[in-house]
Amino acid sequence: MKLEMGRLEDGAPLPEWVAALDRAAFGDAWQSLAPHEALWAIPEVAFARWSRVPAAGEAELLRIAVAPEARGQGLGRVLLEVCQRELAAEGLVRLFLEVRPSNAPALRLYQRCGWEPCGLRPRYYSNGEDALVFVRTS
Ligand SMILES: CC(C)(COP(=O)(O)OP(=O)(O)OC[C@H]1O[C@@H](n2cnc3c(N)ncnc32)[C@H](O)[C@@H]1OP(=O)(O)O)[C@@H](O)C(=O)NCCC(=O)NCCS
Repeated sequence: MKLEMGRLEDGAPLPEWVAALDRAAFGDAWQSLAPHEALWAIPEVAFARWSRVPAAGEAELLRIAVAPEARGQGLGRVLLEVCQRELAAEGLVRLFLEVRPSNAPALRLYQRCGWEPCGLRPRYYSNGEDALVFVRTS
């Protein structure tokens, strides 16, 4: 399999495999990208979707998912590191995300990529679970 990573061109339609992986990983899928959003992907295998606030030099990781059969091979880390580097090159140097305290693989990934906990949103998720807020500054 060819694993070429890249950023979806602005205005390009969201690939169907992204919606399918989004549904498989999170139970629902977000459709076309808003103008302030950006998406990096390893085609057919993984994607990371961001919301950008250029005026503040900030961005938020909305979703990251690796196809179940490709997890645990370092692809999530490679994808996240590319995003972090390219966002920093755009001047987006303060990155945020929310994560469930029960999501051990995601917590490990973020810690390995230099993210740090900076807050908690009580009962943030629909099942009543809190969200941990993480930040990463370049
Ligand atoms: C979270 C996710 C993106 C990680 O992707 P991945 O490609 O499997 O992660 P990597 O292989 O790059 O691993 C990154 C780190 O997490 C660790 N890790 C991966 N899977 C793990 C697991 N099941 N349990 C514990 N740690 C795990 C790895 O060992 C690695 O740490 P290390 O460098 O210390 O060994 C992937 O599990 C996924 O798509 N999950 C479903 C969607 C999701 O929960 N997204 C995050 C919330 S938005």
